[in-house]
Amino acid sequence: MRIAVFVSGGGTNLQSIIDAAESGKLSAEVSLVLSSKSDAYALERARRHNIPAVYLSSKEFQSRDYFLHAMFDVLDEHKIDFIALAGYMKKVPPEIVKKYKNRITNIHPALLPAFGGKGMYGMRVHQAVIEYGCKVTGVTIHIVDEEYDHGPIVAQKCVPVSDQDTPETLAERVLAIEHLLYPQVLEWFAQDKVIVSGNIVKVSQ
Ligand code: GRF
Repeated sequence: MRIAVFVSGGGTNLQSIIDAAESGKLSAEVSLVLSSKSDAYALERARRHNIPAVYLSSKEFQSRDYFLHAMFDVLDEHKIDFIALAGYMKKVPPEIVKKYKNRITNIHPALLPAFGGKGMYGMRVHQAVIEYGCKVTGVTIHIVDEEYDHGPIVAQKCVPVSDQDTPETLAERVLAIEHLLYPQVLEWFAQDKVIVSGNIVKVSQ
């Protein structure tokens, strides 16, 4: 499986995916890293591992069509057959979602459908979880559809919230779980174990 990881930021999830692929825990290749931000540290991580690192933003194109074609072109050029969003802050164009049906995943640092959607990213998520008084939060990996943080759920893991937690301490514990869960879920896809029917995802063992 040739994976493109889409990023916008630091790329610690990207790093966990690269490490899993390099160690053989993940039987896939990270064949492309695509960033919506030119200065994302994730691009630097990719370069250090000799992975093609591309900055692609709609801002740099005259029209949406040109941008879309550039995205299709780069995915084709690198023969990508799976896309993993890892901190990608943009919506994936519906044409790409359609072409890669059930072949795009996203990771979210809460238990969807709670604390997701537009504007719910980064520390805001953890802040909202604490302000609501939740005693448990977690990680969700889901298949991407046309809406933010929406689409069939593939895997979730819980993380307890303690009375002492700040958004920062909670983010750190949630992120540690993300780093374990994403490579594992990608391995299920690589081994063709994921069966999607409607909104229900099953993983064959
Ligand atoms: C993660 O918390 C992920 O769940 C969310 O964005 C963050 C990305 O972090 N979608 P990183 O860039 O992988 O360090």
